[in-house]
Amino acid sequence: MMKKVYAAITAIEAWYPPDILTNADLEKMVDTTDKWIVSRTGIKERRILRGPDKGTSELAVPAVKKLLEKTGTSPKEIDMVICTTVTPDMFFPSTANIISDKVGITNAFSFDMAAACSGFVYMLAVASKFIETGSAKKIICIGADKMSSITDYTDRSTCPLFGDAAGAVLLEPCTEFGIMDHILRTDGSGRHHLYMKAGGSQRPASHETVDAHEHFIFQEGQTVFKMAVSKMADVSVEMMEKHQIPADKVWLVPHQANLRIITAVAKRMGLDPKRVMINIQKYGNTTTATIPLVIYEYEKKLRKGDPLILSSFGGGFTWGSVYLTWAYDPE
Ligand code: UT7
Repeated sequence: MMKKVYAAITAIEAWYPPDILTNADLEKMVDTTDKWIVSRTGIKERRILRGPDKGTSELAVPAVKKLLEKTGTSPKEIDMVICTTVTPDMFFPSTANIISDKVGITNAFSFDMAAACSGFVYMLAVASKFIETGSAKKIICIGADKMSSITDYTDRSTCPLFGDAAGAVLLEPCTEFGIMDHILRTDGSGRHHLYMKAGGSQRPASHETVDAHEHFIFQEGQTVFKMAVSKMADVSVEMMEKHQIPADKVWLVPHQANLRIITAVAKRMGLDPKRVMINIQKYGNTTTATIPLVIYEYEKKLRKGDPLILSSFGGGFTWGSVYLTWAYDPE
């Protein structure tokens, strides 16, 4: 009998720009304090990509190059590239097309996927099907966002939250480990609580939209907070129970939007804080990049077979969890 094929993460890389924006810097820009930001969000600093004409692809390219080097993979061997982002370099072509060109990936098809902060979990679910069916052997999945390009640095309710970063994984077939299951959900009526008002086809850019600061993230924080806690916890607990994953074995990999959300979700799952991956203090919310960036930083702690539950909530509303088993030991 043919063994079932899973899509396994066989390598992970990330990149963030060197420039740091601290809470002390923000205190000089808006009416806020380090104490408020740390106590309400857990964030101490975030990375910002500076310089003219640098888009999200500039964050992703170093991560992808490192991924190829680390695995000794030629760009020509890659047969599919997906980039999930809410800050594409431009409306079209896809940022994945631009990244592929910049790293020399020429035998692949590449495209972008958008599901706001849930982009990375949605993308893994989609990409895994191409591996499972045998139609792709090596897929690069990238989560990258230059959130500083859509953050209003005069709005104290949103500007402390976001930062810039990219993370990338290589997916390959494996008969033992890999992506086991996903629970993905959407509620489009949530679109009024977290979005960018202008710049799309419904309300194209004009002097008026620029003057009204409509090309930035708009968020009703409290509404999003409550939904994030309950929905992320629901899908994470459901996944843990469905697969009977013991609380002392599982790694929770939460989207990093707010430390209080992460703590509440972990508590509902009954997890020891040691089983929860957290790096929000250093990078803030990097939207589609939070999950690969935090796994990248915990890579050395992971062992072959470790169960991971990735969990996210974001604009849309979109949310979901992915259950995977880790495929390799640290070098
Ligand atoms: O990744 C996508 C999903 N996004 C999320 O999951 C984010 C979810 N939301 C949140 O994380 C939180 O709602 C925030 C961090 C955005 C805000 O925290 P909060 O505890 O919900 O604060 P709040 O909006 O209820 O505001 C409390 C107070 C208000 O003052 P008053 O009305 O009580 O006088 C705000 O004006 O805090 C004030 N405030 C600030 N004060 C100092 C808001 N922002 C700031 C600030 N510094 N930066």
